[in-house]
Amino acid sequence: MLRTHTNGQLRLDDIGKRVTLAGWVHRRRDHGGLVFIDLRDRDGITQIVFNPAHAPTAHAAATRLGGEWVVQVQGVVEERPAGQSNPELVTGAIEVLADAVDVLNPAKTPPVPVAAEQDVDEALRLRYRYLDLRRPRMQRNLILRHQLIRAIRDFLDARGFVEIETPILLKSTPEGARDYLVPSRVHAGKFYALPQSPQQLKQLLMVAGMDRYYQIARCFRDEDLRADRQPEFTQLDLEMAFVEREDILRLIEPLVIEIVERMGKTVQQKPFPRLTYAESMAKYGNDKPDLRFGLPLVDLSDVVADSGFGVFRDTVAGGGQVKAVRGPGMGDYSRRQIDEVQAIVQAAGARGLATLAFGEEVKSPIAKFLTEHEINIIRDRLEAEHGDMVFVVAGAPNVVAEALSRLRLEIGRRLSLMDDSIIAAAWVIDQPLFEWNVDEGRWDSVHHPFTSPRPEDVPLLDTDPGTVRAQAYDVVMNGYEAGGGSIRIHRRDVQEKVFKLLGLTAEQTRAQFGHLLDAFEYGAPPHGGIALGIDRIAMLMADAPNIREVIAFPKTQAAVDLMTQAPSEVDERQLKDLHIALRDAKPAR
Ligand code: AMO
Repeated sequence: MLRTHTNGQLRLDDIGKRVTLAGWVHRRRDHGGLVFIDLRDRDGITQIVFNPAHAPTAHAAATRLGGEWVVQVQGVVEERPAGQSNPELVTGAIEVLADAVDVLNPAKTPPVPVAAEQDVDEALRLRYRYLDLRRPRMQRNLILRHQLIRAIRDFLDARGFVEIETPILLKSTPEGARDYLVPSRVHAGKFYALPQSPQQLKQLLMVAGMDRYYQIARCFRDEDLRADRQPEFTQLDLEMAFVEREDILRLIEPLVIEIVERMGKTVQQKPFPRLTYAESMAKYGNDKPDLRFGLPLVDLSDVVADSGFGVFRDTVAGGGQVKAVRGPGMGDYSRRQIDEVQAIVQAAGARGLATLAFGEEVKSPIAKFLTEHEINIIRDRLEAEHGDMVFVVAGAPNVVAEALSRLRLEIGRRLSLMDDSIIAAAWVIDQPLFEWNVDEGRWDSVHHPFTSPRPEDVPLLDTDPGTVRAQAYDVVMNGYEAGGGSIRIHRRDVQEKVFKLLGLTAEQTRAQFGHLLDAFEYGAPPHGGIALGIDRIAMLMADAPNIREVIAFPKTQAAVDLMTQAPSEVDERQLKDLHIALRDAKPAR
């Protein structure tokens, strides 16, 4: 055996035992003749003492050990001398007095310091990810992720779900991003697409009678990356037959609560609040509101429609909106602070920001254009109190929504209203089925093309597709979309109609989705499901600033793996096998 114990195991009860430990040299300290080594493995740190009087050869060897060397130590467990125990370590009451040390493998000086928790350049961390992952914080994140997935499996297993794997080499299954394609060697000129999600397969499993399916599924999307997006990511993908929306919400809500509470966080409100998409957009300016704090957006369009302030009046007359948000206690903001806030709304496309500071009197650059009556209604609607600032934005509805949504979050940050130990989970429901794609001049699915319209809205597919509501639902957590799903279309005629509205010809529909449409003609049960973003939920549970922190080997924002340097060039021979000639022989970088 290379070791008798891990470095997190020994306690006062073990005093006097002979042990063999193995691990990495976390730190070495030379002290008045003694050498101390903190020996580390995944489980913890144990202090090893080398005493020249006790074991001169081992002591001499210990003086030469460097950081991150892999060593094996033999010795006897002792209580640490009085006053020297370390309450920060579970093994802090004991140490091991070494009589032998073997170097299993020396190490170069690590470019990513493992022992220090200091911030290190992320590119360096990703290049030497195996060193970065040795750091206790990253080990905690990966273990947390493992526990999260285990909790999910236990929960679903107990409720009759069957875990089924679906292929990675597949045909395009669209979720609104570009596909990653894999050229076929055997079939010249043909390609597999990596699944953007297992969407169609899980529906086909329902047609296959599997009733309740789930999968911890890897998904691939070639899209612009952000802090909460990776080109490949992991979903809890789930589907159920013979269900209505309520059944899915009632299954997932306790699952989310269980995950959050097992991870030591508090769910802000149970049952989860439910907002329609329209409400969410109106009150928070987005469809994934951070509900850890209030401060909803307030519509003032009616109040200022005939106002003396031309910008407001003209905006409303032109079909725009005037909306506001309250900044509690921000009434004394300086010019510079107001400029900072204004920059945020301007970055979202707003022309400007009007402010009203409520104190002994109302201080506002636009006060002279407003009547006292108008100012009083603004104060009442926003419930502005002495010392508050009201921030007003006028413009097109989508610009106002985006600008005030960002501003509201900034207010939350500035006032520390976002406590990471609390998870404010909510359902956002009734998304529109379609949104108009201005560039392409056709409808796009808001969710995906397989989402069922609400039954009462089906006739609107023919007359007014933009107003059709979907039987869809998103679960949001602290301002992130943690998951989304829907009741599906299970009838061929409805599915064909939707494809048509999305601008697909009959031939395209047959070529891309013929298998699904055919399946709907062989007894497809009503069904629905959801997918939760495992990386995003793990990120929230780990208090991590982005999802790369909870993924073992993530890619950069530019979709590069800095450790292996993927994507990389390939041999001409491989290209030839795949029947591929590069259009642009220049390497991308
Ligand atoms: P959707 O596209 O909403 O739904 O994805 C479900 C959840 O997956 C997470 N997610 C991502 N996480 C990291 N990086 C990404 N690039 C990324 N894209 C999505 C989000 C999101 O809420 N087939 C449907 C599900 C269904 O209808 O059942 C789907 O994939 O947390």
